[in-house]
Amino acid sequence: MSDFDLTGKVCVVTGAGRGIGRGIAESLARYGATVVLSGRTAATLADAAAAIGAAASTQVADVTREADVIALRDAVLARHGRIDVLVNNAGIDPVWRGIEKTSLADWQAIIDTNLTGTFLCCKYLGSAIGQGGSVINVSSIAGRVGVTRSVPYCASKGGVELLTKALALDWAKRGVRVNCLAPGYVDTDLTHALLSHEVHGKPFLDHIPLGRFGTPREMGGAVVFLASDASTYMTGQSLVVDGGWTAD
Ligand SMILES: NC(=O)c1ccc[n+]([C@@H]2O[C@H](COP(=O)([O-])OP(=O)(O)OC[C@H]3O[C@@H](n4cnc5c(N)ncnc54)[C@H](OP(=O)(O)O)[C@@H]3O)[C@@H](O)[C@H]2O)c1
Repeated sequence: MSDFDLTGKVCVVTGAGRGIGRGIAESLARYGATVVLSGRTAATLADAAAAIGAAASTQVADVTREADVIALRDAVLARHGRIDVLVNNAGIDPVWRGIEKTSLADWQAIIDTNLTGTFLCCKYLGSAIGQGGSVINVSSIAGRVGVTRSVPYCASKGGVELLTKALALDWAKRGVRVNCLAPGYVDTDLTHALLSHEVHGKPFLDHIPLGRFGTPREMGGAVVFLASDASTYMTGQSLVVDGGWTAD
């Protein structure tokens, strides 16, 4: 357990009020971390933090707004005096249609949240992480292979994968590791309509060798590894947790 022990580490998770981010925050706290749950919606954050208990606190921030991200960093430093782990999980995918029917506004909203939000959080919170710390950017298998009717989402997540590699090179010198978690399909608010769809859902399930969708807790376990001393020689990489989707 000691290599995975996160006692004393201050971890910030964006998009932590629900879905995968909430699962990640719960897993980090289970391994001893102090967690700051961030997101746009105070009520869901409060709910998620209450389920974790005293190790958790909340801070509302929209990752697309530079001033919010700076305020998030300042609030965490004022509260805890340090940041050890940043999990850039906040993300959206509202489109699911061909490029012909994708508006510029659709494209910009996805890039702003998934890619620019990750950039801003790395810039302001990641920069405040000290030696031995770790950044974990939540990309997707859709950042590694193409997914139909998902041009902006795939582009945003592919960007997150390469942002991660480039930043890992820059920050290796100061002892801060930067990796990705690339989840496969997890049934959350983001994906439920698609994965449960009578026609479109079944092909997704059929494509997964393990025969089921993943859970937020299973994403949390991988993040605990990337946040902990169990992964101290790993940087600039992407940990794919997809039930075997990309194995063939
Ligand atoms: N579910 C999957 O199958 C899957 C697969 C691969 C990758 N991912 C990635 O995993 C991450 C989490 O996805 P999920 O399935 O858990 O989605 P979700 O259930 O829809 O939750 C998304 C979270 O992101 C937050 N968020 C969205 N826009 C934000 C913004 N501008 N600023 C701050 N927070 C924002 C939401 O906060 P509010 O509650 O305040 O709206 C919410 O907490 C995303 O990056 C997604 O792309 C998901």
